[in-house]
Amino acid sequence: MARKIYIFDTTLRDGEQAPRCSMNLAEKLEVARQLEKLGVDIMEAGFPAASPGDAAAVREIARTVKNVRVAALARALEKDIDTAWEAIRKAESPRIHTFIATSPIHMEYKLRMAPEQVIEAAAAAVRYAKHYSSDVEFSAEDASRSEPDFLCRIFSAAIDAGATVINIPDTVGYAIPEEFARLVAYIKANTPNIDRAMISVHCHNDLGLAVANSLAALRAGADQVECTVNGLGERAGNAALEEIVMALRTRRDFFDLATGLDTAQIFSTSRLVSKVTGVSVQINKAIVGENAFAHEAGIHQHGVLANRQTYEIMTPESIGLPQNSLVLGKHSGRHAFEERLKYLGFALDSARIDELFAQFKILADKKKTVTDRDIEALARGASGTIPETYKLERFAVQSGTQLAATCTIRLARKDGSVYEKAAVGDGPVDAAFKAIDEIVGRTLELEDFRLSSVTSGEDAQGEATVKVKFEGRTWNGHGVSTDILEASIKAYLAAINTMEWEMAVYE
Ligand code: KIV
Ligand code: ZN
Repeated sequence: MARKIYIFDTTLRDGEQAPRCSMNLAEKLEVARQLEKLGVDIMEAGFPAASPGDAAAVREIARTVKNVRVAALARALEKDIDTAWEAIRKAESPRIHTFIATSPIHMEYKLRMAPEQVIEAAAAAVRYAKHYSSDVEFSAEDASRSEPDFLCRIFSAAIDAGATVINIPDTVGYAIPEEFARLVAYIKANTPNIDRAMISVHCHNDLGLAVANSLAALRAGADQVECTVNGLGERAGNAALEEIVMALRTRRDFFDLATGLDTAQIFSTSRLVSKVTGVSVQINKAIVGENAFAHEAGIHQHGVLANRQTYEIMTPESIGLPQNSLVLGKHSGRHAFEERLKYLGFALDSARIDELFAQFKILADKKKTVTDRDIEALARGASGTIPETYKLERFAVQSGTQLAATCTIRLARKDGSVYEKAAVGDGPVDAAFKAIDEIVGRTLELEDFRLSSVTSGEDAQGEATVKVKFEGRTWNGHGVSTDILEASIKAYLAAINTMEWEMAVYE
């Protein structure tokens, strides 16, 4: 029987900590529920000591998901471990994940600690974490640039202190598959008490080898692999979950290793993560890229029509991407629209679908055909489960080369009151955002603002993404419209609505 591999997903921690990949609490919860559906064995929900916002998100995730182990990261410090435990203690299966660096360069320049002190700190941290949780993982940060014998010693000390999992990270993406496999085998053979712990690996993608290194390590005896959806993560990212899982499944004949994942949830999970982070998946990305199952060349199309296996080593259905050639237009019905939303990974309630369907009809009147990207943008722009504290009623703008831009905005509040304000700004978008700030009575810092076109063509929709900061915390919002100012206003309001909701519910 194939050996079981444990999938440790760190999209919500290593993935989320990457620049431009941050998610707010509602988004993290949505991703956590989807990861549970996907069937990951462990989800690392965050790094609670990093910020109160991180701790709150980990706490909510721990309370929400049931069929998955929830891990929280902590440096090898008592205060970090206390904060991590506080955040995950309500989880059905909590895990404390503590780490310290073990490479000569990290120990000397970052930690300023002697190797023996590092071993003591690691053992003390694991012992301390063990008072709280029976499940403790210990990571040797920068393991691939550490002395193998030193790794064996520190892992042995961590296991004696109670670690149930020891993790070998290739923190800087430096390893080469054969070499990394050798390191795993060496640790397995030379750590005396290794039979009392699982071996995990955690690879970064700086040389584009994260998945190859992870697979080589699994073949060499690792039991757990740490990875992220769409390969998000620090710098060039982490090993992509979907690539590891589908490689193991497609080449079971070679690996003889199995995961417990429902691979039919891969596509939806990838779309969801892309939606909430605003980080699109590259078109030719393995497994989940738009072209991953597209056959353009005539000779390929001919082969696939005769027998799909000529050019397809896995089926689109195996990742939850049904064959679907539907084109939607103004005559399409609600059912076809709902099916398309599902296909694109959006699980929305009926009221939300009705609302989006009304927007789709308006769009279909303006555009000849509505593409998947249009529908995704509509759904991404939708507030989804977040109640709309403020809703745009109308806006008017005046701007030109000789004129200061002025925008008048009318918003309806959820209590039924209506507010109208005008503001002057450095361009129409700035004027609109200032008018909104006046209505909501908060001055928000605009951390990021991006506009892109959803499709090509004169009738293309514009999609706006904003990130706003208030009292040290950030919120994202998306908006879409054929009018780019309207898209920008919607995005700004979406961020504000999420902020208002989170402040009301969780504080
Ligand atoms: O890359 C790394 O070393 C990490 C550890 C904290 C596991 O993310
Ligand atoms: Zn990492």
